[in-house]
Amino acid sequence: MKALLITRDSLLNAEIASQGAARVPPLTLVATRASLREALDRLVSDAPALVIVDASDFEPSEADQLERLSKHYPGASFMLLTREHQQDLLIRAMRAGVREVLQLPLVHRAFHEAMDRVAASVGVTSMHDGKVLAFISCKGGSGATFISTNFSYALATLVDKKVLLIDLHGQFGDATLYVSDQKAAMTLSDVCGQIARLDAAFLASCLVHITPGFGILAAADDPTRAVDLKADHMDAILRVARQNYDYIVLDVGRQIDAISLRALDSADAIYPVLQLGLPDIRDGRRLLDIFRSLGYPIENTRLIVNRYEKGGKLRLQDLQSALGAEVLHTIPNDYLAVTDSVNQGVPALQLSRSAPISRSLTELVELITARRLPENKGLFDRLFGRGDHDQ
Ligand SMILES: Nc1ncnc2c1ncn2[C@@H]1O[C@H](COP(=O)(O)OP(=O)(O)O)[C@@H](O)[C@H]1O
Ligand SMILES: [Mg+2]
Repeated sequence: MKALLITRDSLLNAEIASQGAARVPPLTLVATRASLREALDRLVSDAPALVIVDASDFEPSEADQLERLSKHYPGASFMLLTREHQQDLLIRAMRAGVREVLQLPLVHRAFHEAMDRVAASVGVTSMHDGKVLAFISCKGGSGATFISTNFSYALATLVDKKVLLIDLHGQFGDATLYVSDQKAAMTLSDVCGQIARLDAAFLASCLVHITPGFGILAAADDPTRAVDLKADHMDAILRVARQNYDYIVLDVGRQIDAISLRALDSADAIYPVLQLGLPDIRDGRRLLDIFRSLGYPIENTRLIVNRYEKGGKLRLQDLQSALGAEVLHTIPNDYLAVTDSVNQGVPALQLSRSAPISRSLTELVELITARRLPENKGLFDRLFGRGDHDQ
């Protein structure tokens, strides 16, 4: 989308240019003018779809000029950036048909939300509207990394979705190793370090590609560089990710910090992974209390019980009442198949479609995408004992 920017502030200019470039499709500044006066004197021949006006030091007379400019670009949406206490200006702006008013200093999230509304109104919509699914381990070793990586692989291969997994472990992130033997050349901290370059192509170039439809953004493994990560970066990454992937799976690990919180804030669903034992339940409870205190809707948080064996002392019902959340799915304890998969760095589903763990992951894909996958393949395997190395 083409935009005309009216500001004297070169820093704001650079900020909007880089935020705009990160959008898909990008917002391009076709011209910049220092004032409304100048914008009126030097009209842009190629009419912009959006006019962004920095009104922070507006004189009262300039409101008239705003109305005049809006008549010159009748097809354009207007976005006004204001400081506080400019109430009278707002009324004039509304009369001039200004579509969006944002406060300065610019809050990036608010800017992009406004841009989404403008883009939608002029029919420039993004290609995807990806869902963010967060898997979080209630206790170390619950199985969140195994499940999130293998579920992502299943999602990409069984329902042909474009999937991005982001390893949010602050340190010792190992998600790539669960499903590949490749070493990540770039990590989350490299992306954050070059956030101004962020777009679909740059993001894709930083991933470990497991299949054509499934890539992993590896964890920021260098603790000295972890300081480069800012919560705002997470917003930017998720925004580009949503526009380019069907599902963004987060392996949140155990630690809740500013980065993982920001990611959880925008998650469409949170899946705490736990085993049916008291230590896991205790930690699970603490985690859910945190989510409640943050105001996360409980219906978006559903439990995944890993290494589940029927007939144990604790029942699923007990777990649901102790945590006040629903169980979405149970995953069986499948020691041999999981150990093979983890040790080889090959997704469980690729090693054997008929293993109990693979069937359970397939069911999880069905539950989360709300679609029934063809049953016959599994049945065929069961009848004829095939299914190993069948990818
Ligand atoms: N369903 C399962 N059946 C058997 N072993 C499992 C299962 N899920 C996970 N594991 C084992 O548990 C170990 C820890 O899992 P991991 O995903 O690393 O936990 P977390 O990320 O929650 O700390 C894995 O290395 C794997 O061998
Ligand atoms: Mg883990």
